[in-house]
Amino acid sequence: MTNESVIKKVQHKLCSAKFVAVLTGAGISADSGVPTFRGAEGLWKQHRAEDLASPHAFAHDPKLVWEWYSWRRELIATKVPNLAHEALATMAGRFSSFVLMTQNVDGLHGMAGSQDCLEMHGNIWKVRCTKCFTVTENRDLPIVFPPQCSACGGLLRPHIVWFGEPLDPPVLDRCMHALQSCDVLLVIGTSGVVQPAASFAMMVKSAGGYTVEINLDPTPSSGSIDIVITGKAKDVVPLLCENSIQDV
Ligand code: OAD
Repeated sequence: MTNESVIKKVQHKLCSAKFVAVLTGAGISADSGVPTFRGAEGLWKQHRAEDLASPHAFAHDPKLVWEWYSWRRELIATKVPNLAHEALATMAGRFSSFVLMTQNVDGLHGMAGSQDCLEMHGNIWKVRCTKCFTVTENRDLPIVFPPQCSACGGLLRPHIVWFGEPLDPPVLDRCMHALQSCDVLLVIGTSGVVQPAASFAMMVKSAGGYTVEINLDPTPSSGSIDIVITGKAKDVVPLLCENSIQDV
């Protein structure tokens, strides 16, 4: 099938859907200039994830971890949402239920106007005290080490779910409910190798839902997805939304 015909098919599915769920990954923000993790230019090509994004790394060298997050914050601060983020924010109002789940920590969905986005891996603009566990918004640039909690003086850490850490249970519960209940799941710009997100499409299929993948390249999930659309998120996602709006 050509991309044009698969896009039409997805538009048709969306027109009859009542509950739409969306999972996004780094690929959607790549179109805004935020680096992805894997692939030729990915962050994990230049750095080892376990040296920078794990509780062990932070315990061993909190300064190094903060330097890396501070660098990423400075980079992300210069970026703005693209047409795909914006289209999803518009799309939310078209369905009886709409749940947006992201593995991204850049906050670009919120900046595009998406409300109540489930940030599965946290948010780079939030910090958490390692002593009293209070979570606060923090937009300091750069981060001056050691950043301290204004309430108790404890060392702050990025409010990010690192490798080896569980997802926030209420966030995970809401994701699971969406996966069980949605008519359609759009999986946008994720390599599908990090759990639990890597299993979301299979969960939706098991529950009888329809799955769509939008990605530049095939992923381990592509073979079991109902429809794969090859292309950039910023080019494909607005097309899906435009036509679901016209036909509703
Ligand atoms: P990855 O970097 O693993 O994958 C990005 C995906 O986006 C790849 O499949 C690319 O083919 C695709 N892609 C790139 N540009 C695109 C574009 N313009 N349009 C559509 N697709 C595009 O990122 P994630 O799957 O999000 O976790 O990674 C999952 C998690 O692994 C991240 O949240 C992060 C990382 O380690 C933590 O840091 C905890």
